[in-house]
Order: sequence, then structure tokens, then C-alpha cells
Amino acid sequence: MHPRKKLIAGNWKMNKTNGDAVALVKDIVTEAGKVTEVEIVIAPPFTALESAAKALEGSNVKLAAQNMHHEASGAFTGEVSAPMLRALFATHVILGHSERRTYFQESDAFINQKVLAALKNQLKPILCVGETLAEREAGSTLKVVQTQLEAGLEGVSKEQAPSVVVAYEPVWAIGTGKVATTDQAQEVHAFIRGLLVKLFGEAIAQKVRILYGGSMKPANAPELLAQKDIDGGLIGGASLEARSFVELIKAAEAAK
Ligand code: PGA
Repeated sequence: MHPRKKLIAGNWKMNKTNGDAVALVKDIVTEAGKVTEVEIVIAPPFTALESAAKALEGSNVKLAAQNMHHEASGAFTGEVSAPMLRALFATHVILGHSERRTYFQESDAFINQKVLAALKNQLKPILCVGETLAEREAGSTLKVVQTQLEAGLEGVSKEQAPSVVVAYEPVWAIGTGKVATTDQAQEVHAFIRGLLVKLFGEAIAQKVRILYGGSMKPANAPELLAQKDIDGGLIGGASLEARSFVELIKAAEAAK
């Protein structure tokens, strides 16, 4: 058997009002709520987390936030903390998404603080890494990914490491319809696996899921998910409709 269960995570970004979110969760739960061979995670906006949690209760669908602050509480207007997310039954949190890095100037050091705070609070971080088009064209893809990964995971212990999920998301493939080729994706995934071996040792590195993200769709998912080091997907656009999201879950089931 494959050592890692496939994981399909939906990153809804700034989409769906509370009512729309509940309707979508209900459809996902109806279609895929009993799937056990694939881990399913959805990340609605903060405003819909509480009602999404209620709508997925009793199913196998898990809840993630799209970001959080590393402090537990305090004077940080507009932010939410790990204990607040835990109180809403979130199990995962997306951290260091390229949109946070680009539009909100989040640095590797800042993201690292969040990763550590998430783990301390039993939230599984989905740490996003990936190069821009300019960086790929300059031949620095692996260097960029290495810097983001090592800085993001600084201080993470061997005991904590299996709870970490890494998402490789080439920035040029996000929301653009330009998907990385399977070879391009697998090359970086294998490189990330190698870095995890150096950081945590072989046995632990084999437990860490590495997701691909960037225009993953039902049409391209089977080939990507068949790669040795691609353990699932972080899905933006195609997670906003139950039908395409469920098709991706089925593709991961078939690829297990
Ligand atoms: P996309 O987004 O699937 O719309 O490309 C992926 C992501 O940003 O996580």
C-alpha cells in the first residue's frame, strides 16, 4: 500500500457568502462525505467557517482556514488566531499562499511563526511554496522552493513534521489555466521530498504529503496524481463547484 493517503483540499479564496458556502458544503458532503480513501479538506473564508463546520458535521470532510495570525490573541486588528480556529473545529490552515506573499508582503520568517503556532495548537499547516514565472525562466525554481521550504519549516520538530502538509504551487500556474507538466511538477515534488529527508530523515519524509496546486482540474488531475511524489491537490477554481471538486476527489481515489 502507498504510505500516504491522498489529500484533496479546496481553497475557496475570497469567494462564497455564508449561504452559498453552506449550499456548497452540503453538496460536497452528499457526494463525497463518506469517502475514506482520500482525505478531503475545504477552506472557506473566515465568515463561513462556523456554518461550514456545522454543515459538514458527521462527514469525512475536514475544515481549514486560509490564513491566521501567530499570536493567540491581542491587538491585531483584522486577524484571527489558531485557538479561534480550533474553537470552530478547523483541523488545517493554509499558510504562505503566494497571494498572501505577493499582496500582503508575507515573509518566510512571518510564515514560519504561523507554522509553529499552528502546530503548537494542533492545527495542521498546509505550507505553500512555489516560484514565479520570472524565477522559473531564470532557472532558480529549486533555489526558491528550497528557501521557502527550509525557512517555513525552521524549528519544526521530527515529532511535528508528519502533521505538516506541503503544497507546491508554481505561481505562474495559479488561476491561469497553465498547469505545470507532470514532469515539471514531479521534479519539484521529488526535490521537496529530498529536502524533507535532509530535515527529518527518510521515514518521516515519507509520511509528509506534498500537494500540487495551480490550475488542477478533473482533466489533468489523473496524470498529476499518478506521480510518485504528488500526494494530492490544493485546488482553487475547481473547488468552487461541487461537481468538479468531487471529480477531483474521485480522481484521487482512483490514483491511490
Ligand atoms: P487554482 O488555485 O486551482 O485556481 O489555480 C490554486 C491555489 O491558488 O491554491
